Amino acid sequence: MLNVRSGIIMGALSLVASASVAQADGKLALYCSAQEDWCQLMARSFEDATGIDVNMSRKSSGETFAQVKAESVNPKGDVWWGGTGDPHLQAAEENLTEAYVSPMRDQLHDWAISQATSANDKTIGIYSGALGYGYNTDLVAANNLPEPACWKDLLKPEYKGHVQMANPNSSGTAYTTLATMVQLFGEDEGFEFMKGLHANVNQYTKSGSAPIKAAARGENTIGIVFMHDAVKQAVSGFPIKVVAPCEGTGYEIGSMSIIAGARNMENAKIFYDWALSAEAQNLALQVNAFQVPSNTGAETSESAPDMSSITLIDYDFSKYGSSAERKRLLQKWDNDVSVLPQ
Ligand code: G6P
Repeated sequence: MLNVRSGIIMGALSLVASASVAQADGKLALYCSAQEDWCQLMARSFEDATGIDVNMSRKSSGETFAQVKAESVNPKGDVWWGGTGDPHLQAAEENLTEAYVSPMRDQLHDWAISQATSANDKTIGIYSGALGYGYNTDLVAANNLPEPACWKDLLKPEYKGHVQMANPNSSGTAYTTLATMVQLFGEDEGFEFMKGLHANVNQYTKSGSAPIKAAARGENTIGIVFMHDAVKQAVSGFPIKVVAPCEGTGYEIGSMSIIAGARNMENAKIFYDWALSAEAQNLALQVNAFQVPSNTGAETSESAPDMSSITLIDYDFSKYGSSAERKRLLQKWDNDVSVLPQ
């Protein structure tokens, strides 16, 4: 443990050595939209590596987008790390984030760089993960429910009150779910699916991973989440089965952006370069964050969902991360789905 940790710090220090050491102090306001424990570990490890004090706050992807937008006349955040890529792309389009070409870019997978090039370098991919769901096998058995395997299984009347997902306005996971259904089934059928699902949903949570945490605790049966969030509960010993839905599924490119007008712009860039390093991305393994890292030299856990065995749709990030489309779909979900009786 000690060796791993000191290795990480040494790696990070050598990385930031190229940046001005005089700038390697002071403060950084980090807005984080990944898992809370990963956010905390990233903040602490960056402090250890650089001496820069990090003030981290975790909010869901859609909420962070709204906060960055609301604060744009007087920005309070420096870097937005993690969360689904769509709202990062929307922030780029709305000039809420700053263009930056990191010297670390040549170490990244193509999918991470294409996120940057499609946004004029105002965001970049840090991890990817496929959408799916997980269910509590004890509760499925206790309630004599069939074992679901497809998206459309979740519409069966016997699952009424047994399905949970987040609200797509606050949560990037849930927005990815909505955009996935529209791409997988077409817009009309996709919205019919969301309406049918609504009839079975017991609660729309604020945060994307909350439904599978509730399932792990036995307070909910099926949670629509990124598959890696369900794996995290399963490897922690909870009776959770992870499902890659039979029709195929969407995925996220978790992203990072520097906030336009950041007060600590140089420190934001130091964090950005560090967060793209293999050493920093390997921290994920310490908190069972099973996303696929964007640095080609970073490790992917053996427990991570095998992306090559999952049928992925050709998710159109440019379209579904555009300001007009994201606003339109959320408005339509608010008007046509969320108001229906349950
Ligand atoms: C979890 C997942 C991340 C994802 C994030 C989005 O933390 O592990 O891969 O990016 O959710 O959070 P949100 O609350 O916006 O759905």
